Amino acid sequence: ISTKAEMVEAVEAVELGEKLAPEDWRSFPSNFLWGVATAAFQVEGAVTEGGRGPSIWDTFSHVKGNIDGDATADVACDHFHRYREDIQLVKRLGAKAYRFSISWSRVLPTGRIQGGISAEGLAFYEDLCREALANGIEPVATLYHWDLPEALEREGGWLNRETVEVFADYAALCFQSLGKYVKTWCSINEPWTQCILGYCFGSHAPGRSVAPGVEPYLAGHHMLLAHGRAAEIYRKVRPEGGKIAMVLNTEWAEPQEPNNLEDQAAVERARAFNLDWFAAPLYEGDYPQLMRQRVGQRLPRFTETERKLVRGSNDFFALNCYSARYICEDNFWRNLQNTPAKLRILPFVSEVLVQKLKVALSADAAADPAEVPAAATGGPATPSPQTLPTTSWTKDAGYETSIPLDAELTATGWPVAHYGLGRLLLYIQGRYQPKGGILITEAGAAFDGDSDSAGPRQATYLQRQSVVLRRAMLEGADVRGYIWWTLMDNFEWSYGYSKHFGLYAVDFSRRQARTPRAVVATYQRLSRSNAVD
Ligand code: NOJ
Repeated sequence: ISTKAEMVEAVEAVELGEKLAPEDWRSFPSNFLWGVATAAFQVEGAVTEGGRGPSIWDTFSHVKGNIDGDATADVACDHFHRYREDIQLVKRLGAKAYRFSISWSRVLPTGRIQGGISAEGLAFYEDLCREALANGIEPVATLYHWDLPEALEREGGWLNRETVEVFADYAALCFQSLGKYVKTWCSINEPWTQCILGYCFGSHAPGRSVAPGVEPYLAGHHMLLAHGRAAEIYRKVRPEGGKIAMVLNTEWAEPQEPNNLEDQAAVERARAFNLDWFAAPLYEGDYPQLMRQRVGQRLPRFTETERKLVRGSNDFFALNCYSARYICEDNFWRNLQNTPAKLRILPFVSEVLVQKLKVALSADAAADPAEVPAAATGGPATPSPQTLPTTSWTKDAGYETSIPLDAELTATGWPVAHYGLGRLLLYIQGRYQPKGGILITEAGAAFDGDSDSAGPRQATYLQRQSVVLRRAMLEGADVRGYIWWTLMDNFEWSYGYSKHFGLYAVDFSRRQARTPRAVVATYQRLSRSNAVD
């Protein structure tokens, strides 16, 4: 994880590469998919144009205190009007794929077909796809990247079983309209993030944090079923080469003390409560045993029909990975002794929400994560009233994270730890052996400072990622592509515009002017040579 360890890793990777395939270890397979990603809410703006209905992120971001600087995404990058120009930026990168997301409420303003289809909304995405294809870029579409139509939230959102079917209708409409252009579909983006930040910490929309720890699991259950239904529908209309997957995210987990049995057990829990929470149902047909043991009846159960729907529904493994962390047992006193206070991090929250989290943490001691059978069956559920804030997921998972003193951190406080990507890829390959291989649907980093200083750090980051990636492939990980997050700086959720993941910098005060960062040259070399530089 440390910078020094990273360098050792890089040298080892080169040595290993030369040993395994001395001739051409640097070259990626000829059909390797180099891409860049964005998501509708983060870039489009134009939130009231073309009949677009509001989404939960419009509502959430307009509440004072929820977003750094009280920023909104009303204009964002104005991608809605500038998508042609943006496709040219993608082209200049030499990228072969552009991953974007469809705003559900731009296509269906109330979320439901019955509420009317926006022809203008659909036309926008059709045009975007045509423009990409005309420029030799494959469109990769995400159906749902966190922006649930507000009208559906009023009926319970992801806590309401009905949302599964409403999503299936929306998915069918998208397949029908865009199926001739899009061959690679992502159903739902990062269910973990939505469940934990949206329904546990409350730092993302819909901003819920309700005792006693049922909602994250229920929302996640419905997302798995919604993905399953979308995949089922897609199979019936799928064109040659068409594929669909749910996008899962995780950081690699490594024991803080490799020989400490408690830390090893904590790592097992970290895997179960992050990636495997969703990957195990998709590939093995049920939640991890460890989750069942610790969450009990609060964790929904799959009926036989649902199990069949979800299991085997991924046509490839879509992975977002940004970091790795040391994991240790959730033992407050031991951890306090071992880790300097300033390095004990509160992951996943922006500064403005730390306060909110503190309240939640103190309430957690009082929260009773007792089993709640009624709401946990996966049947129709009504959200319970906002009562006591809870962080029951952290309690259920029961582990802590730490970072070594010399670790380099990105602007979002995530350790730079490329080797984690390699180990994670090999873990996925070993445990799930995904048919259709692994597509890295997001990887990237934001760094502080102006373009001049942040750009080179991003460039180094990308360059090292490519080495670790190639090494993991030589060791057996079947990786089919690598999509960088993100094309241009954009609305980074609760961080507003303060974190810059873009290959292109965007000046939000100067008519959203786009300027290439130093990393663009690195990206171009990679994609054009299709080889580690
Ligand atoms: C994951 C999300 O999918 C994306 O929307 C977000 O901006 C990046 N990670 C960076 O945090």
